[in-house]
Amino acid sequence: MSEIVYLNGEFMPLENARVPVLDRGFIFGDGVYEVIPVYSRRPFRMPEHLARFRRSHDAIRLDYPLSDPEWTRLVHELIQRHGADDQSIYLQVTRGVAKRDHAFPKDAVPTVFAMSSPLSTPTREAIENGVSTVSAVDYRWQRCDIKSTSLLANCLLRQVAADSGATEVVMFRDGFLTEGSSSNVFTVRNGTILAPPKDHRVLPGITYDVVLELANNNGLPCEVRPVSEQEVRSADEIWVTSSTKEVLAVTTLDGKVVGTGRPGPVFRRIHQLYQEFKRTIMRQAA
Ligand code: PDD
Repeated sequence: MSEIVYLNGEFMPLENARVPVLDRGFIFGDGVYEVIPVYSRRPFRMPEHLARFRRSHDAIRLDYPLSDPEWTRLVHELIQRHGADDQSIYLQVTRGVAKRDHAFPKDAVPTVFAMSSPLSTPTREAIENGVSTVSAVDYRWQRCDIKSTSLLANCLLRQVAADSGATEVVMFRDGFLTEGSSSNVFTVRNGTILAPPKDHRVLPGITYDVVLELANNNGLPCEVRPVSEQEVRSADEIWVTSSTKEVLAVTTLDGKVVGTGRPGPVFRRIHQLYQEFKRTIMRQAA
């Protein structure tokens, strides 16, 4: 049976979903998106994801086409129509179809698209052994806080990692840590978790917030402040976080071992807390 997706008010099989070539999402990457993980058929941190989605719309001066209750109903409908218990919901809104002109069209109707895929969380191997990364200069634009579908730089940077068999790229701008191509990056030094502040240089990750909350609630020291490249390169631990990666330990950076070369003790604690937190949410859903 074909996957059912949502496009502009209708549910339909994926292969029937079509967008005109003049859609500004296709022509300019003029759109915003969200990825929401679903555990045991329950969306994780939905209000926070929707709040970020609304901020992305505001930031690119795009009308928020559905209300939060309407998005919530749509997400639940997709979850019901999909077979898997754990899913990844993708929402995308573009500025709609119009004659090609960089300036905003006067009366284009936003294109609204949503789909669900099975959630593929990291393998046991990745959790137990960690993943490899390579570094890169972060040459993206100055509004990385917007979850925009214009992801060419992120794709180019991820491919740098893929070309060398690495899982993710760790980026630096002006000598300071920013993030990965599709994840936030944490480090641990002398037992303290360090995270770059949520400013225009990084996406304000929902998983980033969960990790800091879990750390704070469980007495793990953390500091949110600029983290220098040198601090990252000599860190005891490095982690990447995202809705699909959850929390993963980085065990090599540019072929050089991070810490002991194994996922560290602070990672193991935070990973355990994250899994417990998810289980609590699943129990509430039952
Ligand atoms: N990416 N930074 C970037 C550039 C991202 O694209 C993402 C998420 C994150 C982590 O955000 P969150 O914890 O809210 O998932 C940070 C999603 C998963 C994607 O593009 O598929």
